[in-house]
Amino acid sequence: MADVTRWIGLSLGADICWPICFEEILRRLDLAIPIGRNTVRFEVERISIEPFRLTQGCKYDVVIDRLTHWFHTSREWIKKAVIMDGLYVFNNPWSVQSMEKQTTYCAMLRLGLPIPETWLIPPKEHHPSADLEPTLARYARMFDLGDIGERLGYPLYMKPYDGGAWKGVSRIDDEQTLRQTYDESGRMVMQLQKAVQPFDLFIRCIGLGPQLQLVPYDPTKPLHERYQVGFHVVNADEWSLLEDMTLTINTFFGWDFNSCEALRRDGQFYPIDFANPCPDSQVTSLHYYFPWLVKANIRWSVFCAATQRRMRLNLDWKPFFDIAKRNLPYRERLAAYAAIARRRLDAKRFQAFCDRHLAHLDEVAYEFFGSDQAKQAVRAKVEAMFPEHEWDRFTDHFCGLIDFWRKTEADQRDFGSTPSS
Ligand SMILES: Nc1ncnc2c1ncn2[C@@H]1O[C@H](COP(=O)(O)OP(=O)(O)OP(=O)(O)O)[C@@H](O)[C@H]1O
Ligand SMILES: [Mg+2]
Repeated sequence: MADVTRWIGLSLGADICWPICFEEILRRLDLAIPIGRNTVRFEVERISIEPFRLTQGCKYDVVIDRLTHWFHTSREWIKKAVIMDGLYVFNNPWSVQSMEKQTTYCAMLRLGLPIPETWLIPPKEHHPSADLEPTLARYARMFDLGDIGERLGYPLYMKPYDGGAWKGVSRIDDEQTLRQTYDESGRMVMQLQKAVQPFDLFIRCIGLGPQLQLVPYDPTKPLHERYQVGFHVVNADEWSLLEDMTLTINTFFGWDFNSCEALRRDGQFYPIDFANPCPDSQVTSLHYYFPWLVKANIRWSVFCAATQRRMRLNLDWKPFFDIAKRNLPYRERLAAYAAIARRRLDAKRFQAFCDRHLAHLDEVAYEFFGSDQAKQAVRAKVEAMFPEHEWDRFTDHFCGLIDFWRKTEADQRDFGSTPSS
């Protein structure tokens, strides 16, 4: 038996809380997993940003990346490490770089998901460039915005085709507002999307590898109250449908970690935004669900590192499109896509691995989230987010929700002890 160390790298920006929890729980797990003739141990390290040679090696087996979508030095380092060193990273950086909201709507429409009707409109203004004038003069067609609004019907949403963080999103109720909002949109390339209205449930489906968490969401609340603590908000069939939908989306785009926003109207779930491949991981928004996220991250990264999971070299969409062609009823079709997703995610082997090697994770995490160390990690995030006079109040607020999670966890898993007040 040889001792082997697998390295998990964290490619981080402003994240504060989850990495502290991740590192400490992994340390407390003290894993020594027999694989083949080896005993595999794990080290976690934060990746520094520095010059790199294309031919230099990469010590990490797995990287959890939170930077690719905006920090290009790290993105290029990761792409190099995948190509040159066989690194496994979540998420696939090429896919993060190229899949805009607009593209993801097209792709899921082609698979038959109920995407609300969406138009893309050319921008109101353009970056000046040498070729701009002849291009527009020759090819830009005049269009009547009011006509498109009429065809879509009101209310509708105007939002950037590549949007995120609610930037430039407007709900539009009439033609006058449509024209005015477009006039103010400047150089942003915008989409118009029919509103799913009224809806009776807004749910965020967080997928991490084959794992799923469903969180009811209220977009009208301030940021720290949007994720709602709610139980049994969907029934078993709905859970299963949302799981199939999320795994299909995530696998199609090569995103191990992604969140899909869906609205329920008349019993149907409409996905309205699922190009979120760097999902919110902050305790200050996830609160009750935060321990789930940390545990899910540990399970999937340890599994990937231990089994030396390989990146898929391309996204390979054909098997999905082949199913789409068969015109199966919606639920069967979604199940068929999800079967591909589960195969690609190695879901059965993952479950067996967790049962066998990570069975103590629940209890270790339960203990950790009751510790002063966890409380300090929450406080560090609160101090970075809120003004000083709110630090105590919000630390207590989020720690209180984590304590509530511990209580539900203790009831469910029969850990025996109850959390401290
Ligand atoms: N078609 C729609 N029907 C109903 N509501 C919508 C629709 N599209 C967007 N919204 C509302 O606008 C909000 C922001 O839209 P969207 O999620 O597409 O933008 P975003 O910039 O990605 O925001 P976020 O960062 O919160 O995900 C949604 O949370 C939802 O409340
Ligand atoms: Mg959104």
